[in-house]
Amino acid sequence: MTTVRVLTGITTTGTPHLGNYVGAIRPAVAASRRAEVDAFYFMADYHALIKSDDPARIERSRLEIAATWLAAGLDPQRVTFYRQSDIPEIPELTWFLTCVTAKGLLNRAHAYKAAVDKNTETGEDADAGVTAGLYMYPVLMAADILAFNANKVPVGRDQIQHIEMARDIAQRFNHIYGREFFVLPEVVIEEQVATLPGLDGRKMSKSYDNTIPLFSGGKKHLRDSIMRIVTDSRAPGEPKDPGSSSLFTIFRAFATEAESNAFHQALLDGIGWGEAKQVMFERIEADVAPMRESYDALIARPAQIEEILHEGARKARAIAAPKIAELRDAIGLRSGASTVVSTVASKAESKAGKLPRFASFRDADGSFRFRLFSADGEELLLSKSFADPKAAGVLQKRLKGPGVTAAVLQVLPRALTLELDGEYVAATPEYRDEQARDEALARLREALDQLAAQE
Ligand code: TRP
Repeated sequence: MTTVRVLTGITTTGTPHLGNYVGAIRPAVAASRRAEVDAFYFMADYHALIKSDDPARIERSRLEIAATWLAAGLDPQRVTFYRQSDIPEIPELTWFLTCVTAKGLLNRAHAYKAAVDKNTETGEDADAGVTAGLYMYPVLMAADILAFNANKVPVGRDQIQHIEMARDIAQRFNHIYGREFFVLPEVVIEEQVATLPGLDGRKMSKSYDNTIPLFSGGKKHLRDSIMRIVTDSRAPGEPKDPGSSSLFTIFRAFATEAESNAFHQALLDGIGWGEAKQVMFERIEADVAPMRESYDALIARPAQIEEILHEGARKARAIAAPKIAELRDAIGLRSGASTVVSTVASKAESKAGKLPRFASFRDADGSFRFRLFSADGEELLLSKSFADPKAAGVLQKRLKGPGVTAAVLQVLPRALTLELDGEYVAATPEYRDEQARDEALARLREALDQLAAQE
C-alpha cells in the first residue's frame, strides 16, 4: 500500500478551545487513524516565539496542547508527534532554504504585508515593530514541511500562501542544486469542517476573546461559558430560529443527525434559551468528559508527556537527519571526517575481498532486474524491472561509480527507496519497524560508499 505523509503544525501560544477541537484536532486525529496516512503532527514552538515573548505562556501552551491532542485520541505509536524545537535539523534546513529564497517572495507574505500596511497607514516607519522572525516565518514553515517530504499539509485558509511559498522554495532549491531533493507539498483545506461561532456569534477565536474552553477550568467552566452564549431576547414559548442561532451550529458539531433534528425541532417549538443551553451543555459534556479525564491525568504527569514527545522527536529525526546529511553533501558542506573514514574502511575491506555485489536475474514476466547484496550477503536493494537488460546494466554502473552521489534515498515508514534523476529505481525490503529501517539505512549507505570508492 502506498502511504501519504500528512504533516501539520500547531502554534503553541494558546489554550485549546471548542473551535480548535472541532475544526482541527478532531479531524486530524480521525485522519491519523486511516491506514494509508502516515501522520506527522508537531508543536510549532519556534513559530510561537514569533508571536509571544512570554516564556511562561509558551511553556504552558506546549504542555496543554500536547495533553489535549493525546487526550483527544492521538496515538503516538501510530503518529509521529513531536516538538519542532526538539529537531535541530529544522533550523539547519531553514538556513539552507533562506539562502535560496528570494527576499521579494517574503516581501509578499500576507502577515508581513499586513504589518507594513498598518505602519504605513499610521505614518510609522514601514518596518516598525516587525521582527526578522515574522519576516522569516514562511521559510521556517517550509523547513518544517520539506524536512520530512510531506505530501499533504492540512491547514486553515489563512495558511494557503505559506504552503505555496514552501513549494516555491522547494522548487528553487531543486533547480539550483539540480535534483529533486524535495517533494512538493500540497495544501489540504477541509471544506466540510465546521468553524464554530463563539460566545458573541463571530468565529470562535482567541483574538476575539469569545472562546469556549475545551478542558481548562473543567466541567463548571464549560457550562458557565455555554450559559454566556449571546442569544436574542425571545422568551420561553416563542419559536426560535435555528438558522441564526450559534447554539444550533455548535450543537450540531457534536451531535448525530437525529439529535440535531430533535434540537432543531425543540427550538422551533419554543424551548427557552436557558433550557436549550443546558441540553447543549449535556451533549457536549458527554463527548468531552472522558477526554477531560485523560487530559487531567496527563497534565498531572508532565514527565510522561515529555517521554512521549522525546520518542516522537527520535522518530522524526531518524527521517530528517539523513535528509539533512544528503543536503549538506549536495551543497558543498560534506563532512570531511566521515568521507575519509568511509574511504579508508572500504579500501581495507576491498583488500580482504569483501565488497557489496550485484546479482542480475530475469523475472517470470521476462523483464530484467537485479539485487544489491551487502558484503555479508544481506539483500539491500531490489531494482525496478527493465525491459532491456542494457538499461539494467547502465543503472548498476551508475550505482558503482561516483555517479551514485546523485542518488536520493526516500525514507518510507518501513522501507527506503532509491531515486536517480527524480525517478524511482530501486527499493529495500520491508523492515519490521522504523528502527530496523534506520539500521538498514546505515548499512545501505555504507555499501553505496564502498561501491563509489571502488572506481
Ligand atoms: N503556521 C501554522 C499556523 O499558524 C502552524 C505551522 C507551523 C504549520 N509550521 C507548519 C502548519 C507546517 C503546517 C505545516 O497554523
